[in-house]
Amino acid sequence: MLDIAFAKSALPTSGALVLVIHEDEKPYGLWQQADEATGGAIARALEVAEFKGGKGKTCVILAPGAGLSRVLAVGLGKEGDVKQTTLEDAGGAIASALARETTVAVAADSLKPGQAAEVALGAALRGYRFDRYRTKEKDEDKSKLAVLTVLTDHPARAKSAFEPLKGVANGVFLTRDLVSEPPNVLHPAEMASRCQKLSELGLKVEVLGPKEMGKLGFGALLGVAQGSVNEARMVVMHWQGAKKTSEKPVVFVGKGVTFDTGGISIKPAGGMEDMKWDMAGAGAVIGLMAALAGRKAKVNAIGLVGLVENMPSGNAQRPGDVVKSYSGQTIEVINTDAEGRLVLADVLWYAQEKYDPKFMVNLATLTGAIIIGLGHEYGGLFSNNDSLAERLTKAGEATGEKLWRMPLHDNYDKQIKSDIADMKNVGGRPGGSITAAQFIQRFVNKKPWAHLDIAGMAWSSKDAPTIPKGATAYGVRMLDRLVADHYED
Ligand code: BES
Ligand code: MN
Ligand code: ZN
Repeated sequence: MLDIAFAKSALPTSGALVLVIHEDEKPYGLWQQADEATGGAIARALEVAEFKGGKGKTCVILAPGAGLSRVLAVGLGKEGDVKQTTLEDAGGAIASALARETTVAVAADSLKPGQAAEVALGAALRGYRFDRYRTKEKDEDKSKLAVLTVLTDHPARAKSAFEPLKGVANGVFLTRDLVSEPPNVLHPAEMASRCQKLSELGLKVEVLGPKEMGKLGFGALLGVAQGSVNEARMVVMHWQGAKKTSEKPVVFVGKGVTFDTGGISIKPAGGMEDMKWDMAGAGAVIGLMAALAGRKAKVNAIGLVGLVENMPSGNAQRPGDVVKSYSGQTIEVINTDAEGRLVLADVLWYAQEKYDPKFMVNLATLTGAIIIGLGHEYGGLFSNNDSLAERLTKAGEATGEKLWRMPLHDNYDKQIKSDIADMKNVGGRPGGSITAAQFIQRFVNKKPWAHLDIAGMAWSSKDAPTIPKGATAYGVRMLDRLVADHYED
C-alpha cells in the first residue's frame, strides 16, 4: 500500500503540494502560504483555469516556484454537501494525477481530522495495482508515488482515524488480488490456502475438501466440481470480536467459481476469460473477513466460501442430471452453466444450520441478466427482510457500493418447477436474476437473508476515482459499513 503519513501543517519546500478546496472558498492557511511563497502563481493559475473548487474538478500547476514540482488543486464542492465519498474521490484524484511524483503533501488544514483520513483512504484505494506478473515494465509506465503526507493541525487524531480505514483498505486489496489472479494459479485449493493465511490476523480458518463435503451430502456443490481435476473446497472463516463469545454471528457467504466455462452447457469463446472473476463473491467475503479482523471489529462474524471450478470433461455433470443437495431437496440440472446457485445452495444450508446466524448475506456473480437490468451502476439486492435490505442499501450509498432492491415472489416459482425433482436450476429468460434468487431462497430456511447479485460490479473496464480498472472488490466496504453501523458492541 501507498505509504500514508500524517504531519503538522507546514509548507513543504519540495515535491508536490495538493490543495483540497471547497467551492468558492478564499485562500487560507497552507494554501495562502503557498500562494505567497510562489509570488501569487497559484492564484493566477486558478484564475486562468476558472477553477472555483467545484466537486470533482482539478487543476494542475507545473513548477510554480518555491521549490515545488507541482501544485494540484482538487475541488470538493460546497462545504455543506461534502460526503465521505466526496473526500475519497478527491483522494483518488490525487493518486491518479500525481502518479509521477514520489512525494506528495496534501494540505488538509481546512478539513476535520476524520475527513483528512478519508482523503488518504481514497488515495490508497486508487493507488492499488496488480503487477505480480509484469516482468518488463518500463520505468516511465510505473507509478512513482511512494509517500503521501497529509498535513493537518491534528495529525495524531487523523492518524488514529486512519487506522481502521487502513484495515478495510487491506481487505479491499486482498479481494482485488484474489479476483485479479489468473485461473491457472487461483484454483480452489490455492484460494483456500490464501484463506488459511488469514489466521495471522486472528481469524480461525477451517477448510473442507471433497471427502468431508461428500460425507455431509453436498451433492449440489460437488456436482459442479466433478468435471474438474481441481478439487473443490469450502472454507469457513471465524472472527470472534464481540464482548460476548455467545453472541450470534453475522454470516457472509460467497460464490467462488474459480473458473466458469459453463461446463457441458459450455459458454461461447468470446470473453470467456472474464470468468476467472466468477469467484468475486467469495473474494469479497474473504476481504471482508480480513477487514473486520484488520480493524478489530467488535462483532462475531463468519465467512463461508464455496470454491469450485466449472469444467466440461468426461466426468462432468450433464444437463438432465438430478443431484441431492445438503438440505435434502433434489435439483434437476437443466443447464450446467447455472452453477453458482448450486454451490450457494449447499453452503447457505450449512451456514444456517450450523451457526444460527443473526442474518446471512450472500454475494455472487450469479447472472448475466442482472447486468442487463442494472448495468454497472448498482448491484442487485434480493431479501426476505425489509430492515436488512434497508440497512444494506444505506451502507451501499455511504460507501459508493450501491444496491438496488429487486423483487422476490412465489409467483416466480412456477418457472423453476421440475417434472422429476423438487426444482430445476434454471427458470428461462424472463426475470432470470429473480428466478435465480427464488432458487437460492429455498436454501435459507426462513433466516433473515439477502442475496447480492454482483455480476455487473465485480470487474470494471475503466478507471473510477477510487477504483483502478480491473477487480473492484465491490461489497467489502459496503458490508464492513453494515457491520460497523449496526452490529458492533
Ligand atoms: N457466472 C455466470 C454469470 C455471469 C455472467 C457473471 C456474466 C458475470 C458476467 C453464471 O454462472 C452464469 O453462467 N449464469 C447464466 C445463467 C443461465 C444459464 C440461467 C447466465 O447468466 O447466462
Ligand atoms: Mn455459469
Ligand atoms: Zn458462474
